[in-house]
Amino acid sequence: MALLEIKKYPEKILAQKTEPVKEFTLELQKLIDDMVETMYAAPGAGLAANQVSVSKQVLVIDVSMTEEKIPLIVLINPEIVYIEGESEFEEGCLSLPGYVTVVKRAEKVKVKGLDRNGKPVEVEGTGLLSRALQHEIDHLNGILLIDRIGRLRKEFFKKRFAREKVLSKSR
Ligand code: NI
Repeated sequence: MALLEIKKYPEKILAQKTEPVKEFTLELQKLIDDMVETMYAAPGAGLAANQVSVSKQVLVIDVSMTEEKIPLIVLINPEIVYIEGESEFEEGCLSLPGYVTVVKRAEKVKVKGLDRNGKPVEVEGTGLLSRALQHEIDHLNGILLIDRIGRLRKEFFKKRFAREKVLSKSR
């Protein structure tokens, strides 16, 4: 296994829609293992393939740090098929280091997809799992959490980002 480099905002690949997986190759298995290792090392609760420069519909999620009974989730070509309710909660992203903000999302989701061997699976989640599923599926569609917080707050984020970039260069 290997640790992969996590791409950070404003890398273009993060804003691009990923392609469905068609073949369940050894290369895909290695990508999944490397993504899991990279997620744990970060540490993070989820990772989408385009965050590690692979434009494919692959995501991994592990929310067991707070939701002990939920095992590691690997989903290929995931699709949200049902949503319910609304919830607001703080969220961060490995591609936006140091930034945490409240994001409004559905309270409950049902997701259909394939497991790492291509077998159809369905995952249902509330709370943190629901949030992680929506966050990672957004990634696969080229959407970051700053695209979910409204225009004004996104402008504020961009200003802060530009300011911090200038500061880090002058150090
Ligand atoms: Ni993220």
